[in-house]
Amino acid sequence: MKDSLFIKAALSEKTERPPVWMMRQAGRFMKEYWDIKNKYSFLEMCKTPEIAADVTMLPVDLLGIDAAILFSDILVTGEAMGGDLSFTQGVGPKFANPVRTAADIDALETDVTHRLQYVADAIKVIQQRLDGKIPLIGFAGAPFTVMSYLVEGGSSKDFKLTKLLLHNEPELAHRLLSKIATVTADYLNLQIAAGVNAVQIFDSWALALSWDDYTEFSHRYITEIISKLNRKDIPVISFCKGSSVFAPLMAEAKPDVISIDWNVDLKDIKQRLPQGIAVQGNLDPHILYADKKVIKERIHRLFERMRGEDGFIFNLGHGIMPDIPFDNVKYAVEVIKEFRY
Ligand code: CP3
Repeated sequence: MKDSLFIKAALSEKTERPPVWMMRQAGRFMKEYWDIKNKYSFLEMCKTPEIAADVTMLPVDLLGIDAAILFSDILVTGEAMGGDLSFTQGVGPKFANPVRTAADIDALETDVTHRLQYVADAIKVIQQRLDGKIPLIGFAGAPFTVMSYLVEGGSSKDFKLTKLLLHNEPELAHRLLSKIATVTADYLNLQIAAGVNAVQIFDSWALALSWDDYTEFSHRYITEIISKLNRKDIPVISFCKGSSVFAPLMAEAKPDVISIDWNVDLKDIKQRLPQGIAVQGNLDPHILYADKKVIKERIHRLFERMRGEDGFIFNLGHGIMPDIPFDNVKYAVEVIKEFRY
């Protein structure tokens, strides 16, 4: 895998063009995803290795992207710790037993990787299917983002209960975050042992935090997780929404790559990071709703801006929306793969 475009760019080596993959590439914008989804629940899909592999392979076969990402969800760690997790169409994820008191936090278990063995099994099936052609990215949610779902009991607009816990009861919040961090490091090491070629940590909702709160309640635990990974030559990607603000701090946790949201000029932020840290990003996903000539022009604009910068992986600033036309995503991948520096 060392010679793959994706791994080379992640390790800040020179590539003839930027490699491409897209967050949420294995999902609902594809008719073929719905053909599978209509037969199984989302958690059944995650927990049945053959089905998880089928879904992981959809964007590999239909789009020709340069890296596959494991089909799973960031909330499976919360479930393994004792969260009663369900996904309902149109509602999103729910934990029926939200974690809000000291007793709730104490009841969560941390020695739980045996409950996530299905992910290791899926990784093995996927690697057989990929057959060395492109790398496989594993992933986990960052403690703050997973905590927000456990505390709120599901998705939230303002993270009111989560932030109240951070502000009124910081010791309790730290106890919860520390437990999630322990499980997350073990879980990512399980994925590495099972054969993933890179890992990404998703801190999707970090944007909700002030600089001080991000430092104390998120950055600290991501640093701990990264320091515990058996990474050898496995690149570690750190993503958050808010990375255009937090990237210099994220770099201190020592990832190989920082995945950047679309608010910032990618070259400017890269030049503010230490040498040897690659960037991933950062097209506004809404561009993929636009006309094809706009899609091409915006991709070329980004690539011209990044010309001469080693360590650049094309991605979106956040995940693909479910109603983005498949044809546009396919076109974007073609434009990227035709490009040469
Ligand atoms: O990127 C990929 O294609 C790999 C699979 C993947 C999923 N979720 C599948 C999924 C990944 C990497 C995730 C990560 C994830 N899950 C994040 C972080 C990434 C991000 O977008 O910020 C978050 C915040 C979640 C939590 C989550 N899971 C939510 C909020 C939802 C429902 C709302 C929504 O956006 O759909 C899910 C469900 C989910 N995870 C689906 C998929 C394909 C949809 C399930 C369905 O078919 O109904």
